[in-house]
Amino acid sequence: MAVCKNILKFRGEVSREDRKNLNGHRAAVFWFTGISGSGKSTIAHCVEKRLFDCAMRAYVFDGDNVRHGLCSDLSFSPTARTENIRRIAEVCRLFTDNGTICMCAFISPLKEYRKMAREIVGEADFYEIYVSCSLEVCEQRDVKGYYKMAREGKIKNYTGISAPYDAPDEPDLIVETDRETLEESVSKVEAFILDKVRL
Ligand SMILES: Nc1ncnc2c1ncn2[C@@H]1O[C@H](COP(=O)(O)OP(=O)(O)OP(=O)(O)O)[C@@H](O)[C@H]1O
Ligand SMILES: [Mg+2]
Repeated sequence: MAVCKNILKFRGEVSREDRKNLNGHRAAVFWFTGISGSGKSTIAHCVEKRLFDCAMRAYVFDGDNVRHGLCSDLSFSPTARTENIRRIAEVCRLFTDNGTICMCAFISPLKEYRKMAREIVGEADFYEIYVSCSLEVCEQRDVKGYYKMAREGKIKNYTGISAPYDAPDEPDLIVETDRETLEESVSKVEAFILDKVRL
């Protein structure tokens, strides 16, 4: 990667504090991790709608969506996956500076990815939400039909089947979507986020 030299940051006249006061809430990054089909996107988008309806600034960064644009040039190799997470975390850092509550719905299977995201965003603004669900239930859901294809060997390096998933050791919140209703999981996450962003 090219290294930029002799570039100074320009200090704007609107501070993060100003934006927080305008919005009436803090900004932070809520990083959802869990295997495919665990419920990251479903929960994040439901919570986004609830926050929006309360006039709060929230935005979901979704794995599938960023790969159509911001990260459309990246493959699924280990280096490209790292770059994928790095870019998302950098964008989230900008969004938090802008006062937005960011919800990131990425499998982010390895601890090292999540550690990097935490470092880029900054410890004080980063919360990890573990969307836990057994592989068995996720395979039954098979929302995208990819588990079947992975079992048939049509997709290689599929998390949970042929590629590892490191569950977080100390997530800030756990939702167990194979034991909770969608409403329970959404309400749990919403309450957690409101508690962290309340002034
Ligand atoms: N408690 C729950 N929380 C979230 N989703 C649930 C829950 N119970 C059942 N579901 C269902 O599980 C499925 C989760 O799919 P979803 O696309 O959200 O998963 P994902 O984690 O975003 O997967 P991927 O990593 O492939 O994008 C949905 O069909 C949803 O309705
Ligand atoms: Mg998803």
